[in-house]
Amino acid sequence: MATFTRSSSTAAVLALAAVVLAVLGGAVEAQQLAPNFYSRTCPNLARIVRRGMASAVQKERRMGASILRMFFHDCFVNGCDGSILLDDTSTFTGEKGAGPNANSVRGFEVIDAIKAQVEASCTATVSCADILALAARDGVNLLGGPTWSVPLGRKDSRTASQSAANDNLPGPGSSLSTLISMFGNQGLSARDMTALSGAHTIGRSQCQFFRSRIYTEPNVNASFAALRQRTCPRSGGDANLAPFDVQTPDGFDNAYYQNLLQQKGLLHSDQELFNGGSQDALVRQYSNNPALFSSDFVTAMIKMGNLLPSAGTRTEVRLNCRKVN
Ligand code: HEM
Repeated sequence: MATFTRSSSTAAVLALAAVVLAVLGGAVEAQQLAPNFYSRTCPNLARIVRRGMASAVQKERRMGASILRMFFHDCFVNGCDGSILLDDTSTFTGEKGAGPNANSVRGFEVIDAIKAQVEASCTATVSCADILALAARDGVNLLGGPTWSVPLGRKDSRTASQSAANDNLPGPGSSLSTLISMFGNQGLSARDMTALSGAHTIGRSQCQFFRSRIYTEPNVNASFAALRQRTCPRSGGDANLAPFDVQTPDGFDNAYYQNLLQQKGLLHSDQELFNGGSQDALVRQYSNNPALFSSDFVTAMIKMGNLLPSAGTRTEVRLNCRKVN
């Protein structure tokens, strides 16, 4: 019979303690993500998410964009931990009501429906944060953008922070230096920021977020401003929608950057990327090299997806994405 040396028995005790902690308290440490994380525990995961996103996008093309944005707004607030999905409770005010999210981020019921399908097939196994990461990838791809393999193994938060959402998410009036520093705070470079902003090649914005740009800014294309003014009056109509990209509003391509060259950026923050500053050259490159944009976008999405809650944060695999277990 094997006898334990002192150090191996210590190691065994530590390993056991880690298992007990993981079972009782949820994961206590940030994990290394890997695309094959669920290959044995939930082999159909990617297919289930893809099917859910395909049906949502078939019902409404915009949903691919909405879910991509939801993932960004999740990752920028204490890491990609599904915190944006939590409803308010008596003990915390969630992120759904934060300024950048309220009456704006949409698609929660799409994630709920996918989660229900995933639970039916692999109970209590796949985090809501991972489902959102996969759904965002599929949203991009279903609208004609690239696909990539998504590193997995995120855990879900047990809380949410409205104030962190208000503090960490950039607003449409942001200057280039603010954008660079807000992405920098997350460990993302200016290049990552400019590539990720290409997400605005799909989706819509409400009039209230671009009104001042189309009525008051000097660096806006006159016919573009006139077109947008038709459905975004000087007062009223705050929630009226306009596509970010007029030509291919639901096509994930590099038209966003071509629009910026013509001063047809919809938000002030969009046009800041091409307004005589440090990102001009990269915007030009993306505008005539779709493959470069595509590959930088994927790199930056994976980098953003690697933002995790700080080590020591208690996490879990939520059963219902809207509430902690
Ligand atoms: C660079 C700073 C950014 C700012 C200031 C910004 C701001 C905004 C604003 C104001 C809207 C319109 C929301 C509404 O009308 O309700 C919007 C929409 C959107 N954003 Fe951003 N955003 C930024 C970066 C990003 C990034 C990094 C992504 C994803 C990688 C993203 C993806 C989207 C998408 C897809 C939409 C359209 C959503 C829909 O149609 O439902 N944005 N963004």
